Amino acid sequence: MKNILVTGATGFIGSHTSVELLENGYNVIGIDNLYNSDKDVLSSIEYITGKSVKFYEGDILDYSILKKIFLENNIDCVIHFAAFKAVGESVEKPLDYYYNNVSGTLNILNCMREFNCKKFIYSSSATVYDKDNPIPYLEHYKKSATSPYGYTKVMVEQILSDIYVSDKDFSCVMLRYFNPIGAHKSGLIGENPKGVPNNLMPYICDVAISKREFLNVFGNDYNTVDGTGVRDYVHVVDIARGHLEAMKYVLISKGNIGINLGTGKGTSVLELVECFERVSGKKINIRICGRRDGDIDEFYADTTKAREILGWESRFDIEDMCLDSWNYIKAHI
Ligand code: WQD
Repeated sequence: MKNILVTGATGFIGSHTSVELLENGYNVIGIDNLYNSDKDVLSSIEYITGKSVKFYEGDILDYSILKKIFLENNIDCVIHFAAFKAVGESVEKPLDYYYNNVSGTLNILNCMREFNCKKFIYSSSATVYDKDNPIPYLEHYKKSATSPYGYTKVMVEQILSDIYVSDKDFSCVMLRYFNPIGAHKSGLIGENPKGVPNNLMPYICDVAISKREFLNVFGNDYNTVDGTGVRDYVHVVDIARGHLEAMKYVLISKGNIGINLGTGKGTSVLELVECFERVSGKKINIRICGRRDGDIDEFYADTTKAREILGWESRFDIEDMCLDSWNYIKAHI
């Protein structure tokens, strides 16, 4: 049985990936500082899979706990989710973002080197693509960023590329998620950020359960189908499946590759709201307001590389994503 270290194991994508790994016969060792998640996610994972995560509460910035994990477990591969991910917050607190997202990753990579672990899956993001690229985005397109959050992803991708140049035995896949939403069909795990949601779907869910009065639609004057922002929303369980396939790939190969995880389809804010209203039966009140700094009109993925290299493609559509999000959030009111 292979032992997989999952950082950010109780987070939105980390928890869904842990379920996928356990259900496919891998041992999961998890670390999380519970900054943006709750420990009760572990019991939900155990209920869903009948297996448990070997969990360490701690911070990736604490080398001693990373060393303890590697001393106590023979780690075959690391899947690294733990990071701050709010674009707007990163503009206000750049030092926190560079310290946590870049130095935290360096801590993990240094510990992997100390224990000769050379298999790494990195939680990257479509935000690494330069906003002037044509769409759909292809993996070789120009990278840049419009926020410190985005630059932490660009910087870590560069670090991983340089490590591979120095050590051809290092094997890494950088998974560039587009917009993960949805929840496990059990309704036991899903997206439940602490504080005011930065992202669209958790905010829609808050309005649906009357936790918030209306959704601010950040601009309706974009050059898109209805003037609102268009994104490639992808089901979190599809994202989790993508990590499983990427991990199988790095365990048997060497190299350093970036791969998009998206559906290849764009959906506007208003289209997502309409779909959510249809599947939930809930009215989502909206207020059109100004554009949000850093936002762009439209982007979505070219998914050829994921299909050809990982044999992965998304299975769930926007209705599934809305229904599963609604199913989760109404069970957690
Ligand atoms: C989606 C659309 C907004 C909130 C970012 C990161 C990406 C990933 C996902 C971490 C946009 C509009 C949003 C709201 C709105 N992060 N919107 N009202 O900005 O595409 O991507 O989050 O993994 O790396 O770049 O996602 O959900 O914030 O916004 O109108 O209250 O919804 O303008 O068009 P985004 P988002």
